[in-house]
Amino acid sequence: MSHADDHEGSRRDFLYYTTAGAGAVVAGAAVWPLVNQMNPSADVQALSSILVDVSGVEPGTQITVKWLGKPVFIRRRTQEEIDAARDTPLADLPDPDARNANLSTGAEATDINRALPQPGDENAEQWLVMMGVCTHLGCVPLGDGAGDFGGWFCPCHGSHYDTAGRIRKGPAPENLPVPVAAFQDESTIKLG
Ligand code: FES
Repeated sequence: MSHADDHEGSRRDFLYYTTAGAGAVVAGAAVWPLVNQMNPSADVQALSSILVDVSGVEPGTQITVKWLGKPVFIRRRTQEEIDAARDTPLADLPDPDARNANLSTGAEATDINRALPQPGDENAEQWLVMMGVCTHLGCVPLGDGAGDFGGWFCPCHGSHYDTAGRIRKGPAPENLPVPVAAFQDESTIKLG
């Protein structure tokens, strides 16, 4: 695939999600009265957590799922991507905080503190799960190696994120946030 094709694919993703997001607001408003009549515990559970089958995600690829009305990036990183993130000195990071909801506040933005541990393979740091929402003004960044640091790039105002989703250049003030997430079994991630 040429670089131009790659970019075009990313751009389509970007357009899809921004459009889908706008539609979801309308749909959410329309279905709310129905949801509201359901058993509260069932509706809260349905809204707050989802299970994602990641068995088909190969190294070097990612999927985007929608959770709580927002895109979530789930990437299975290559060893090169992991090494690039591990080798980055913390002093080079504009935001030194891991921004990981699964860790205590103030955890450092090391690569292992950004990755999602997989049962039986906790140190591999293959899996990265992050909200796909730029911390500048909320656009959806482009992925698959985009930007100057081989991670994600937000075209709205030029924010570059690295292979661990950490902000490296541009106006975004924080790393892409890691939501509450955990492996349920070897191929299923629970969000929320
Ligand atoms: S919204 Fe991403 S750089 Fe402004």
